[in-house]
Amino acid sequence: MSQPTIESILHEDRIFEPAAEFSSSAHIASLQQYQQLYDKAKADPQAFWAELAATELHWFQTWDTVLDWQPPFAKWFVNGKINISYNCLDRHLTTWRRNKAALIWEGEPGDSRTLTYAQLHREVCQFANVLKQLGVEKGDRVGIYLPMIPEAAIAMLACARIGAVHSVVFGGFSAEALRDRLVDVQAKLVVTADGGWRKDAIVPLKEQVDKALANNSAPNVENVLVVRRTEQTIAMEPGRDHWWHDLQAGASADCPAEPMNSEDMLFVLYTSGSTGKPKGVVHTTGGYNLYTHITTKWIFDLKDTDVYWCTADVGWITGHSYIVYGPLSNGATSVMYEGAPRPSNPGCMWDVIERYGVNIFYTAPTAIRAFIKMGEHLPNARDLSSLRLLGTVGEPINPEAWMWYHRIIGKGRCPIVDTWWQTETGGIMITPLPGAVPTKPGSATLPFPGILAEIVDLEGNPVPTNEGGYLAVRHPWPGMMRTVYGDRDRFRRTYWEHIPPKDGQYLYFAGDGARCDQDGYFWVMGRVDDVINVAGHRLGTMEIESALVSHPSVAEAAVVGKPDDLKGEEIVAFVTLENKITASDDLKNELKKHVVQEIGAIARPGEIKFADALPKTRSGKIMRRLLRSLAAGEEISGDTSTLEDRSVLEKLREG
Ligand code: WTA
Repeated sequence: MSQPTIESILHEDRIFEPAAEFSSSAHIASLQQYQQLYDKAKADPQAFWAELAATELHWFQTWDTVLDWQPPFAKWFVNGKINISYNCLDRHLTTWRRNKAALIWEGEPGDSRTLTYAQLHREVCQFANVLKQLGVEKGDRVGIYLPMIPEAAIAMLACARIGAVHSVVFGGFSAEALRDRLVDVQAKLVVTADGGWRKDAIVPLKEQVDKALANNSAPNVENVLVVRRTEQTIAMEPGRDHWWHDLQAGASADCPAEPMNSEDMLFVLYTSGSTGKPKGVVHTTGGYNLYTHITTKWIFDLKDTDVYWCTADVGWITGHSYIVYGPLSNGATSVMYEGAPRPSNPGCMWDVIERYGVNIFYTAPTAIRAFIKMGEHLPNARDLSSLRLLGTVGEPINPEAWMWYHRIIGKGRCPIVDTWWQTETGGIMITPLPGAVPTKPGSATLPFPGILAEIVDLEGNPVPTNEGGYLAVRHPWPGMMRTVYGDRDRFRRTYWEHIPPKDGQYLYFAGDGARCDQDGYFWVMGRVDDVINVAGHRLGTMEIESALVSHPSVAEAAVVGKPDDLKGEEIVAFVTLENKITASDDLKNELKKHVVQEIGAIARPGEIKFADALPKTRSGKIMRRLLRSLAAGEEISGDTSTLEDRSVLEKLREG
């Protein structure tokens, strides 16, 4: 059950045709229909997207230019006026969906709550007025640091409603990581909770916010709104901190959606890159609304009768696009779950499916591998017959896990959509359309219509069939990120000049290695940069190294990923210590704790290895390739001639 390797997937030749019964009622019902859409979009992308924008979304005012492309900067639906909160809420209120469940929330200690579209609309309008009362204006940034509770979606939609820019920070990040993000985005207000439930324990969110804001270290933050969730005693700073329920109760439910410019910023979401601090990925309104709407509709074959459940956290892009915006724009019923499997309730995910009759289930390979480990008796003891479609995202799925998902959860009848995409792409890019595209376990299959994906070398030349290369995208698409917050140059360099543009033709560099097979199917292998993917969470090795080096005992650190059966990758840190500091197991634990404090529990190294020195090139660069092999327990192969001091390697190997 390890990550797919070239060898394992080269030998993967099973093909699963969409079931006739599924196809007969699917939005995209045959391979031929997919091909027609793909060809049409390729021939005239602007006409393709414009037609969808006009038919699928509400606009206060139509655009005058579909695409303004000044590479690498794109503007979609220029001068169009739109509001994504209106598209997710108001437009459903004049239909029968008014009283349909928009969000079904299941909280950790057995709490639950259902919000219809009318109820959600009311809450969002009230909260939008609360934000206004506290001085939040169009264009201001709002930090959201919440557990998986409906207030997270309400806060996002309320920001969107008045044109404030939200920046959600995953609740598992530490106070330090939160502060960095709040400072970078210059947040004016923070929405948080007294705490969140995590596997029977309380995550003290408000306490972390207090730490992040201590000593005026995020000077733009004027107000903090606190949702009461876990009900333990917390400190409330007069003048700065307010209870959500106090202000919400007194707020008017009348708040018309602000007509936003299509290119107005909708949100900033931080993600790890190979160098430097996390990047603020900027998404704007109109293009993102269209892209998440249409991908949700076609890829999850969404019908009005479906109960749809994506298990991601709203702190990640998957939660933004496929719990909140995509499903609600389609008027779907979206399940939001605060819990996670734990020893006292390992079958809880299957209980949720049974209880709510979930039809569409979207999760991550790392979760599937954990389900396999917990045993098939758990899902087998529940009624999963409501399921009709399964999805996965976040990392390559190994064919064994795909087959288990297919057999045990899908009972051999549910199509699986393996969806490849990124924070930067806004929505799903490579995926089967479930009624149309035959699937192969481990392959994300074919590009979504309108997406021109290619496998190239670093000069941008196409690589032959079945040969490894870099995954790249040729033409702009509506959901693409617009820039790195406050750093247009970094955006240009990182994504659009990594492969040098030729004759004005720019290629988007995704940072993933992949190959294309004889049927044009994409097989994504994983990151080719210094980003590691731990249980579907994206982490930069640099961030973890900086955290380690900030500890007074550490002289130097190099972090690599090591293949792991459950998490995909595990963090291994090679550390050299300052003079006079002695290595010990206590120090290892202290360093692990230090990383958790600096970044969050998701970045806790699985292993720390002390070394006298790190292998470096003559020009002083750490040779991570060698460290990766060492961590994985492999023979060191390939060229080591650039190594400055060969004895370093011998010593490391001896441990
Ligand atoms: C990886 C998550 C293989 C990939 C939506 C990408 C995948 C990174 C898949 C983005 C998939 C995501 N198959 N690899 N189906 N989906 N990835 O920004 O390495 O958190 O570059 O976005 O996850 O992670 P991010």
